[in-house]
Amino acid sequence: TLILMFLSLGFLSLCFLSPCFLSPLYEEFKVPHGENETVHDRITYNMRKSLDLDVDGCILVPGEKRSLLDCGFNVTAKTIFIIHGWTMSGMFESWMRKLVAAMMQREPEANVVIVEWLPMAHQLYPDAVNHTHQVGLSVATTINWLQEEQQMPLQNVHLIGYSLGAHVAGYAGTFVRGSVGRITGLDPAGPMFEGVGDEKRLSSDDADFVDVLHTYTREALGVSIGIQQPIGDIDIYPNGGDVQPGCDLTSVLTSAAGGNFMDVMKCEHERAVHLFVDSLISKEHTSFAYQCTDSERFKKGICLSCRKNRCNQMGYNAKKTRKRRNSKMYLKTRADTPFGGIHYQMKMHVFNRKQADNADPTFYVKLYGAHNDSQDLHVDIPNKVGLNLTNTFLVFTEDDIGDLLKIRLSWEGASESFGSFWKNIKKNFWDWKSSSKPTNQMLEVRRIRVKCGETQKKFTFCAQDPSLTEITPGQGITYVKCRDGWEVKPSKKRYTAQSNSVYC
Ligand SMILES: *[C@@H]1O[C@H](CO)[C@@H](O)[C@H](O)[C@H]1NC(C)=O
Ligand SMILES: *[C@@H]1O[C@H](CO)[C@@H](O)[C@H](O)[C@H]1NC(C)=O
Ligand SMILES: *[C@@H]1O[C@H](CO)[C@@H](O)[C@H](O)[C@H]1NC(C)=O
Ligand SMILES: *[C@@H]1O[C@H](CO)[C@@H](O)[C@H](O)[C@H]1NC(C)=O
Ligand SMILES: *[C@@H]1O[C@H](CO)[C@@H](O)[C@H](O)[C@H]1NC(C)=O
Repeated sequence: TLILMFLSLGFLSLCFLSPCFLSPLYEEFKVPHGENETVHDRITYNMRKSLDLDVDGCILVPGEKRSLLDCGFNVTAKTIFIIHGWTMSGMFESWMRKLVAAMMQREPEANVVIVEWLPMAHQLYPDAVNHTHQVGLSVATTINWLQEEQQMPLQNVHLIGYSLGAHVAGYAGTFVRGSVGRITGLDPAGPMFEGVGDEKRLSSDDADFVDVLHTYTREALGVSIGIQQPIGDIDIYPNGGDVQPGCDLTSVLTSAAGGNFMDVMKCEHERAVHLFVDSLISKEHTSFAYQCTDSERFKKGICLSCRKNRCNQMGYNAKKTRKRRNSKMYLKTRADTPFGGIHYQMKMHVFNRKQADNADPTFYVKLYGAHNDSQDLHVDIPNKVGLNLTNTFLVFTEDDIGDLLKIRLSWEGASESFGSFWKNIKKNFWDWKSSSKPTNQMLEVRRIRVKCGETQKKFTFCAQDPSLTEITPGQGITYVKCRDGWEVKPSKKRYTAQSNSVYC
């Protein structure tokens, strides 16, 4: 059945891109439009007054000053345009409600305007792509009118586009006279945009500051739903931009809401919106992303630096940085809101003491904090553990455990879990010699150096009992802050927001 599931998924994603069984369906919904109908008749500027999307918004009519007065448009306040993407139902998807509500709560004075282009988005995907240019032009015309006749400062304009909507925002930014303050691309669409020129997709030239979240960049059948390449001033790839926690087949299909296959596909794509919403509502609990050349290096824990703008907050609270291209940033997240957690870089020199030349140890760490303890966390070292070498790895805790007090490092032994049991069976099958002997391998770890990404603090942890630094399978060692000075280098500057109450 699993294979069947994947087949249907593949089929669905194929339909996402090409006319197939959806064509008869959408023909029915296609809005007939006469020759005299202008683009404006099919694009609506829906200014929100109520958190409830079922309550009609106030329609802004570009060129009609009267409508601004009627809608209570405040030209000196921030103006946020929210732009949806391709749609299969021809209706708003549920994320729109959440994003609008979160935005209105965060910025009560702002003008929050939904750019509705549903009839043009409810088409075969290539046709909807074709319309992004036209819709972007309409948004730019509207903004030009607001700035030229109503003196709305362009700096105050923030365009937020999801999927295809991100490229609509890109066109709007291109066509507007001057440069809008900010564009946020939430998992900008990939098909037909990946690899095309800057002028045909969202790019960093389209606003003073362009920030992009990439959440569904996994490739299937040669394309990915979300664009893979970095296209903004900062491009954040949560969880590597491909595998979002909580979006695996079983989690979605067995969710309380009762998911279907479409939801499985949407989960990762839409995650960008939910991460952004999270950044609007949980101001106190900000998530940081860290610049890194690629996801593999980030997973090794190498990139937790905040120097020279190498880290930034994810989502609405992102700090404007100077223009630069290809600034890929990474972070790990939880599966649900609040999505943020704490990143630790750990470094330990692993000495080979006895017969461990062929050892492929599986390490776990458990962190003990002032508020709480973590669970046993698997130490993910992408290659094998390097013997007689310093190993760097990344540890992510979902909960803020408070100041880190103690670390327990354990080497999973044959008797410890079922997983390692199978691992040993497999290993012994190939390595006959070692299966005939009981293992008496021994490694030594004297200290663990720790850096917390969120506070940029560094500590060194020493074995609690200085005579016990050797470790064998199935055993553990406890480390506490070394007595000779806790904090290695007191950081001159904290990069966290003042309101941020993270300890680590
Ligand atoms: C378009 O407008 C012209 C004049 O404004 C009118 O004569 C014509 O009937 C209109 N066509 C449609 C399809 O509405
Ligand atoms: C318009 O927005 C500005 C800036 O947010 C605010 O100071 C002002 O009070 C607002 N005016 C009205 C009438 O709400
Ligand atoms: C986009 O639509 C226009 C008008 O229907 C058409 O002339 C043009 O060929 C289309 N472009 C693409 C790339 O499909
Ligand atoms: C590590 O060093 C020990 C002695 O210090 C040596 O016996 C062992 O072969 C070395 N192992 C590796 C993998 O280099
Ligand atoms: C402590 O952490 C555990 C998971 O490790 C979590 O279930 C529990 O809710 C946390 N307690 C507090 C007080 O945060």
